[in-house]
Amino acid sequence: MNKKIAITFLCVALTQFAWAEEKTASGKSLSKNPVSAEAEKVFRDSFRVDSPKYWSQRLEQDETMKLCSQYKDNPPVAVRQKIELAQKATIRYPVDGKLLGDWKEGEKIAAHGRGGHIGFIQPDKPMTPRGGNCYACHQLAAKEVAYGTIGPSLHHFGKIRGNSDEIVKYAYDKIYNSNAFSACTNMPRFGLHSWLTPEEITHVVAFLMDPESPVNKD
Ligand code: HEC
Repeated sequence: MNKKIAITFLCVALTQFAWAEEKTASGKSLSKNPVSAEAEKVFRDSFRVDSPKYWSQRLEQDETMKLCSQYKDNPPVAVRQKIELAQKATIRYPVDGKLLGDWKEGEKIAAHGRGGHIGFIQPDKPMTPRGGNCYACHQLAAKEVAYGTIGPSLHHFGKIRGNSDEIVKYAYDKIYNSNAFSACTNMPRFGLHSWLTPEEITHVVAFLMDPESPVNKD
């Protein structure tokens, strides 16, 4: 490639990049940027017209997600506090008020990630029990060697933190709505989105807390 053409290409690329940055930093909708608007269109068009509506509904952002996108997951303190307060207010508890369920049930829920698979090859049927897929991001029981590291290790969670009422409530609240504690976290909001029921969350809490749970064994 001749030198002049190469420099022209580089300049065009840099201008595009600077322009895109300016748009997102100023808080305007990403779709105003022609590059991301096109990417968004390709993404949305990849859903066939006969897809069930609840598949494409997952693409819609709520207020929290919009704010986190706008500030690239790093909102100013006042916005962060506003998000966290609003998310805390969504947390609901089981009717009997008990936050510690059965760790054996929690172990099963934490270990599987089915229930929400979409697509035309092997989609889950609507009534398929849902899992928390916690190992996708966390280490939990030491015997499970396949785990992701997007989130911190939760091995020995109860052993290290103790199982005071305060920690039990924190674990429940965190799993119900993780954004209530870190506004723009990557962790899903399992309770808010009715992904897990309050009772299922209590089982997962027990899995984290119970001294007999493999999470707290070596
Ligand atoms: C997509 C990744 C992802 C998944 C799936 C996920 N988490 Fe998390 N989790 C995170 C990240 C990232 C953090 C750290 C940032 C934060 O606090 O939100 C975290 C933090 C936590 C914490 C707080 C840890 C502490 O030291 O205070 C707990 C408890 C937790 N997760 C439990 C769970 C459980 C239980 C599940 C499954 C039901 C789960 N997470 C699923 C990403 C994930």
